[in-house]
Amino acid sequence: MVDLECDWMGLRLRSPLIVGASPLCSTPSAARRFVDAGAGAVVMASLFEEQLIADQVAAHRFFDSYIDTNAEARSFLPETDVFSVASTPTLNLVTTLASELDVPVIASLNGVTPGGWTGYAEQLQEAGAAAIELNLYDIATDLSETGEHIELRQLHVVREVVAATRVPVSVKLSPFYASVPSFVARLAEAGAAGVVMFNRFYQPDVDLETLDIDRHLHRSTSAELPLRLHALAIVHGRTNLSLASSGGVHLGTDAAKAILCGADAVQLVSALLEDGPRQLQRIHSELTEWLDLRGYQNLDEARGATALDNVANPHEFERLNYMHMLQSWHPRKPRTIR
Ligand SMILES: Cc1cc2nc3c(=O)[nH]c(=O)nc-3n(C[C@H](O)[C@H](O)[C@H](O)COP(=O)(O)O)c2cc1C
Repeated sequence: MVDLECDWMGLRLRSPLIVGASPLCSTPSAARRFVDAGAGAVVMASLFEEQLIADQVAAHRFFDSYIDTNAEARSFLPETDVFSVASTPTLNLVTTLASELDVPVIASLNGVTPGGWTGYAEQLQEAGAAAIELNLYDIATDLSETGEHIELRQLHVVREVVAATRVPVSVKLSPFYASVPSFVARLAEAGAAGVVMFNRFYQPDVDLETLDIDRHLHRSTSAELPLRLHALAIVHGRTNLSLASSGGVHLGTDAAKAILCGADAVQLVSALLEDGPRQLQRIHSELTEWLDLRGYQNLDEARGATALDNVANPHEFERLNYMHMLQSWHPRKPRTIR
């Protein structure tokens, strides 16, 4: 039977299937069930820059209000971690999961501006996180901030998080860069160890009855996978960063496609929100069966088999494929109705 063991940023995983950042592993028993079903690692829900800054501000306000008390009285004040309203439960959960699970527990930080909040990477590592996933969820809204400026700001955040911790840092990206490959190369220079492609953008709809914004969070479908496959195939073999897909994996064959295009690891959320650990078990079995049927002994043999790194001129290849697809289009024959 095929061996699913793999490497993710230097961490040995027993399977490439990772429970992606979400509330799915917010209790030790839920996380344990995913691990038993075949997860190679789990990513926790994000701690957001905004929450962490609010914690720090609350702490400063508290101490400022005692600024005039004498030194002895101040020594009785609680330690600053009393104020870690947002981070304390997460730090405690990291410690519990890390001690109870025999797979790596990855903590997630989510933010886009440099600042003191990036220092929480160290606390997460000390709590037991085997790696940090940094989510750069960044929507451009400022007409005067250029793409180059946004990228420099994001790289600054990456460098700060990397500097704050000794564990590997992966960066979860959006697909909207003028050049994903170039940004991936710059992430490597900034010290990242892996890249997760991609974030989903939560596009609100307009409710025409209430004229309000409908913020419903829809689960993905496999239709979102090709965007990831395309990017993986382009980047594979051209970077030393570990590559993970995130988005649109619902079947074992979806996971196989991501690996064939170059993914070291495959993250899942929506599929698991639908049917929990049972779905993970199904995906694990389907992936194993698909690889076995084709005679693969391990994932190294399959990884990148359909990637673009063997193509001499990927840019020209992409243009020609695009042109061919448009020019060879023909309407499907209507089905005969008897
Ligand atoms: C309910 C829910 C909560 C999520 N929470 C986070 C989060 O805290 N941090 C993060 O980086 N991504 C979060 N995500 C995004 C997922 O990690 C993942 O990137 C996205 O759902 C695409 O993968 P999928 O198609 O397998 O769902 C969340 C997604 C869902 C559906």
